[in-house]
Amino acid sequence: MCGIVGYAGNIDAACGKPLEVCLQGLARLEYRGYDSAGVALSAPGMDHVEVRKKAGRLANLVDSVERRPMPAATVGIGHTRWATNGVPSDVNSHPHTSRDGKVAIIHNGIIENASQLRLDLQAEGYRFSSATDTEVAAKLLGKIVDAIIAEEGAPDLFKAVRRLARMLEGAFTILATDCRQPGIVVGARHDSPLVVGLGDGENFLGSDVAAFVAYTKRALEVDQDQAVCVSADGVTVTDFYGNPVENPTTYTIDWDASAAEKGGWESFMDKEIHEDPAAVQRTLLGRLDAHGDINLDEVRIEEHDFKAIDKIIVIACGTAAYAGQVARYAIEHWVRIPVEVELAHEFRYRDPILTPRTLVVAISQSGETMDTLMALRHAREQGSKVLAICNAQGASIPRESDAVLYTHAGPEVAVASTKAFVAQITAAYVLGLYLAQVKGTMYRDEIQTTLDALKAMPAKIQWILDTQTKTVHAAAAQMADARSVLFLGRHVGYPVAMEGALKLKEIAYTFTEGFAAGELKHGPIALVDEGEPVVFIVPPERGRDVLHAKVVSGIEEVKARGAFIIAVAEEGDRDAQRYADIVFWRPKCPTLLSPLVDVVPLQLFAMDMAKLKGYDVDKPRNLAKSVTVE
Ligand code: F6R
Repeated sequence: MCGIVGYAGNIDAACGKPLEVCLQGLARLEYRGYDSAGVALSAPGMDHVEVRKKAGRLANLVDSVERRPMPAATVGIGHTRWATNGVPSDVNSHPHTSRDGKVAIIHNGIIENASQLRLDLQAEGYRFSSATDTEVAAKLLGKIVDAIIAEEGAPDLFKAVRRLARMLEGAFTILATDCRQPGIVVGARHDSPLVVGLGDGENFLGSDVAAFVAYTKRALEVDQDQAVCVSADGVTVTDFYGNPVENPTTYTIDWDASAAEKGGWESFMDKEIHEDPAAVQRTLLGRLDAHGDINLDEVRIEEHDFKAIDKIIVIACGTAAYAGQVARYAIEHWVRIPVEVELAHEFRYRDPILTPRTLVVAISQSGETMDTLMALRHAREQGSKVLAICNAQGASIPRESDAVLYTHAGPEVAVASTKAFVAQITAAYVLGLYLAQVKGTMYRDEIQTTLDALKAMPAKIQWILDTQTKTVHAAAAQMADARSVLFLGRHVGYPVAMEGALKLKEIAYTFTEGFAAGELKHGPIALVDEGEPVVFIVPPERGRDVLHAKVVSGIEEVKARGAFIIAVAEEGDRDAQRYADIVFWRPKCPTLLSPLVDVVPLQLFAMDMAKLKGYDVDKPRNLAKSVTVE
């Protein structure tokens, strides 16, 4: 949830670069949390670590540093916080320091044994100024460093951090600096992400690569239960007992720093919605090889194991779970095996039935959602294979899975997920076609035709962006004061309705609910009131799509009770035209693929509503981009 950045530069040349890297990194990581921000700097000759931290947005910290400049340094660590432990305030902000102020620490995660550790330290006379688990870790780290000095005559931060890591329970990534060792930054991770950026004569650390992509595109993975010591010209990785990790995995980041910038758009959300077509297109790129076979990205599952699969369980949270629900309709139709979609946080607590023939599909934009990661581990422990659909290269979820299908949507910065959703649906469809190919449930030409139809979707999404934006904007202007908005859909329109509702509640703070339209008469219709907006996802009016008539009768019922109807409907749909007060038109496309276009006006609608209410659409209150705590 929190953003973490670290920098180690030339030990002989203290300068402003550590602060610059930390502040730039924090600006790119602010989407991970924006309750407070802080930095700590060390340089030769300092008798304490120089710390500055401020509650609120990063701008407050930048302002403070501009008013009262910080000293030149050789290493630095920076933190942007999403509060889990202690309210957002200056004192609860990171970094936290040891009792003597010589060691500073930043942390992402929750230390579950912090209360006991705090009591133990208090019994020894330690005092605490904050309510955080991180301050407990900082005081403890200082104590460990002192013990090492007593044992060995000199501080050893790397060893101390490893000892600390062995004492902590829960989830954590920590970075630490000690003014007595101003050439290194030390990190450790357990159930929380940490990546190293490899530079020339300087090295970087980050909770994700966005922290340092402006400086280097070479990254090194720090794995579960590993510690790392980074200096200007070296990176050493060990386990928590000091055993070296030989040849840790390195990779090249496949996007530029500019991809994580607004590029002239008013907000990241604007930019990312307008990248919906490209996200679908890139996720489809190169999926068919020269033999006409579908490619995934990394497959550590044998083909005969794929053939044997008799059930799929999708595990995911929030928007990613809705993408899974959309994909269920297509995969069951194409592959003829049951697909269950389960919220990852519910999954492992209900003793799910998992066998080696169950394929568990973990969908996650960030690849770091703790609930999904834990569910994935549970599935693997039960002997099932896990395939990850993920946007972030090298994140924990793809790393711990048996196969990976990357959504090549590019970095998603706005907290509300938009382009990742359409990319996740696309990737899940590619998986469905792959399984249909392996299991022989579709002919090759059918697979090809479906892929071609998918390839036509980016242009259709673009059509929505080009032609419907004004209508959506007008609808939002009319609805901005609505107390609540209901979203209704059937079949693939049902998860789209839920996603539309989620977008609006999370960024415009409007009370919304998404329902299956068939459920209307079983309760939700009681909520319908004069003038209250109800959004219907209307299925196409042809072929097998008998549901059209049923949805239209739902519209009539709601209309009769005075609701204001917004419909998402196919061009030329006369019923939608007749009954709806406003229609967001969709171009003709196969029903199973329609969610890729139907969600787009709903994303725009939520964004417009939030802007009209004066909210920051990129950083909604109480939320953070990746939820790395359970
Ligand atoms: C909603 C949203 C969240 C995420 C959910 C899962 O706009 O962004 O609901 O979809 O927290 O996150 P990932 O996909 O990173 O696992």
